[in-house]
Amino acid sequence: MKNNSGKKNNKKLSCFGDLTVNDGHLTVGGCDAVALAEKYGTPLYVFDMQRALDTAAAYLGVLRREYPDSTVCYASKAFCCTAIYNMLAPLGIGADVVSGGELFTAIKGGMDPGKIYFHGNNKSKAEIEYALSVGLECFVVDSELELQLINSCAEKKQNVLVRVNPGVEAHTHRFIQTTAPDSKFGFSIADGTAESVIRSIENYGNINFAGLACHIGSQIFEPQSFEIAIDKMCDFIVRLNSLGIAVERLDLGGGFGVHYIENDKPLTPEQYMKNSAAYLNSAVKSRKISAPHLIVEPGRSIVGEAGITLYTVGAVKTVKDIKTYVAVDGGMFENPRTALYQAQYTAVAADRADVKGDKLYSIAGKCCESGDILIDGIMLPELKSGDILAVLTTGAYHYSMASNYNRNAIPPVVAVKDGRSAYMVKPQTYEDIIRNDVIPDLSEGVR
Ligand code: LLP
Repeated sequence: MKNNSGKKNNKKLSCFGDLTVNDGHLTVGGCDAVALAEKYGTPLYVFDMQRALDTAAAYLGVLRREYPDSTVCYASKAFCCTAIYNMLAPLGIGADVVSGGELFTAIKGGMDPGKIYFHGNNKSKAEIEYALSVGLECFVVDSELELQLINSCAEKKQNVLVRVNPGVEAHTHRFIQTTAPDSKFGFSIADGTAESVIRSIENYGNINFAGLACHIGSQIFEPQSFEIAIDKMCDFIVRLNSLGIAVERLDLGGGFGVHYIENDKPLTPEQYMKNSAAYLNSAVKSRKISAPHLIVEPGRSIVGEAGITLYTVGAVKTVKDIKTYVAVDGGMFENPRTALYQAQYTAVAADRADVKGDKLYSIAGKCCESGDILIDGIMLPELKSGDILAVLTTGAYHYSMASNYNRNAIPPVVAVKDGRSAYMVKPQTYEDIIRNDVIPDLSEGVR
């Protein structure tokens, strides 16, 4: 279909960033989604590199203007593979990692260890030793055991931030909310634990207390949640200063929201950062404390909307008078988020992405589990076996949370940019799936 100017009919897909519809076909990174499914097979994660780069650059750009003494650390857990660091590191971004595996991947991908912050509430001695051996910039400490381990393993003063729980209840799903009073993360400010742990640091010869960290949750839309966290953190800095303890760095974590469905109303990265920077600037001024080096750790908002997942429709089955299931060739092994958090998604038929649906479907995965439903109720045009379905906003916490449940292969990730495509994670084979399987030899005892 051509429009009046003779050009292809190329329009934006409502709120979904850079996705466009071209002659009815969903287009991502200049590539036709149906053609990608044909070329690489399904299920397939597709990742728009420019989209992620632009978002990361937006974070860096605003902070360079509004709060120059800052570091943006990409939260690896959202999507971790070597290519993502290879792409983001040249921008001057740092990384937040939470395991030896993420740290290893980041370094292999070209991330400077001098820009990496190592989070997590239970780092092992082996992880700590590995991080020290590569010259990690900073640990974000979340237990007294970790302080002892770092102190005994380090050969010189090692920077640490202390993770605190400021007690901010952000409006988000219970399992992705991290600062409820009973959270496993952080030392409570309210009950005095954070203060006593920080005071104890002077007893550790190899530890330099560099500052504080918090993370109030994920998929947060209201800037007020971050403002409350800033106030609580700054009040705590005042308290620490009064004890003669300086706080050079303040890590406010990530949590900035994205669109999964039309009703989601996140701010833009520019708005989130402008707001937090302005709020922090005035919070430190009014308390007459010195402005800390600011660290932010966006994950989902850098990669989430850059990803889509393509599926091939298989069986379409109606449970009489109740619902019609469209079964796809993916499921909770490549997207566990609906089963875990009742997450909601938007999907389109990849060859009729601009057609308003008149059929109510539930999109079922192929795992042997009743809860393996990707979308429970969505209006789509009539679907039949062989159609390509695209689920949107799957760039964050999808590939990184995938498993081999039911021994399904984890789908590959294909990067797209300017109409070109290439693997950034190759497909898993059945041989890959059994690579570490062994028939046990029980002839040796353990004493
Ligand atoms: N920094 C810290 C210390 C974090 O714990 C997290 C996320 C982030 C940064 C990045 O948050 P983001 O900007 O991506 O919201 N699996 C869940 C999300 C868990 C997030 C855990 N921590 C999901 O699929 O929604």
